[in-house]
Amino acid sequence: MNRMSTGEMSRGTASAAGGPATLKGLAEGYRDPHGLYDTLRERDRISFDPTSRCWLVTGHDATRKILSDTRFVSDAVTAAPQPRRSLPRSFITDAVQKQAIFTDGPRQAAVRRAVLMELARRSDSLLGPLDAAARTLAERARERRELDLLGEFAVPYSMEAISMILGLPVGDPEETARLERWSTTFANVTSGYVQVNMQEINLLGEYFRAQVAARGGIPSDDLIGAFLRDGGLEDEEDVVIQCMMAFAAGRVTTQKLLGSGIPLLVPEWSEWRERLRSNPATARRLTEELLRVVTPTRYVARYAAEDVHFEDGADGGSTLRRGERVILFLEAANRDPQAFPAPHAVQADRHPNPHLAFGSGPHRCPGAAIARIEVQTALQALLETLSVLRPHPSLPPTWEPNPNLGGYASFRCLCE
Ligand code: HEM
Repeated sequence: MNRMSTGEMSRGTASAAGGPATLKGLAEGYRDPHGLYDTLRERDRISFDPTSRCWLVTGHDATRKILSDTRFVSDAVTAAPQPRRSLPRSFITDAVQKQAIFTDGPRQAAVRRAVLMELARRSDSLLGPLDAAARTLAERARERRELDLLGEFAVPYSMEAISMILGLPVGDPEETARLERWSTTFANVTSGYVQVNMQEINLLGEYFRAQVAARGGIPSDDLIGAFLRDGGLEDEEDVVIQCMMAFAAGRVTTQKLLGSGIPLLVPEWSEWRERLRSNPATARRLTEELLRVVTPTRYVARYAAEDVHFEDGADGGSTLRRGERVILFLEAANRDPQAFPAPHAVQADRHPNPHLAFGSGPHRCPGAAIARIEVQTALQALLETLSVLRPHPSLPPTWEPNPNLGGYASFRCLCE
């Protein structure tokens, strides 16, 4: 496989799948991309897209290898062979570029470690409050006999959870709605979707600046305190930026997993309830399976920091040149039939389940353990509280427009 041949293969794949197997085609077909992924993966697990001039990776093994290979980095600037023309500096460009998620090396490792240690320390004590939050929302739905899985469950629950983690005040509905909007905007831009009101990033920055200032330099017993104490960060502005990252990265992903994952259980709701009743481990296994099938972060990007040759491939391997962009479709890797038999089926007893929903390697999600607890707790509360959950007969689901993080924007149900 070489660059020309993979470009040709991509074009061949396009007609077979009935649409362009390019980054653009995959983004446009984001509501149901699996036909395209399947054909791309069958033909070529790493393919060059001549239109976007980046490599598309769809195989499980190739994705895992690249994410763990330090010759591929998250910072496009250090990977570029020639100095790149940089954007004029502003808080918005700093807030996006200085997030640990887009940097590499000791500072990024320190931020990640701070999140990991703080969440490991707090996970037991968060369990009770998370359970109470989920059961309150589920009870409210049962009384109303109607539930929008997004607006009345996944959104408020994920907001409450990340507020507990960061130590943010809750209870003001207008502020909660603003924070939800601003963090969605920040997550959209971070994930590459920029058709948003950029000023909301400034507003989110102001909010966290006030939160950090309110601590008066004394680390609080929460993730903001952990960043102040252990994040290895330059100054309070840097703390503000990492708080924005954790808030957006931790909230929007959990919201999407629940908001797009629970609808997959709706058609067999009573069977799932029965399974949970007969085996309490169901919530844990089902969480893993929904992580695999939904994959909230559909893709991540890396840049080759040097020329890298891959041996695998039909005609002598492929060489990725320094500075080239690689898009790793975690969502496609998570449905690779070589790693997952019957990849499109939701099987709660799937074992092993080596999904890549949290990524892999030096940037692997440090929130994975708490996200798992959040999701298990939410599934358990809903399955135990609602004996009936079915789609609303006259209000169909709507979608978020972001091709990477976007899932359902609303999914209305009737319930008992
Ligand atoms: C279902 C929930 C979640 C999913 C699917 C998810 C997914 C991911 C993925 C795929 C990455 C790696 C990005 C890359 O390699 O470029 C990541 C990074 C990250 N996630 Fe999560 N995440 C979730 C929940 C959370 C939570 C609850 C937090 C909590 C604070 C969090 C904080 C972070 C941070 C700080 C990073 C950046 C790590 C780094 O670049 O070093 N995530 N997440």
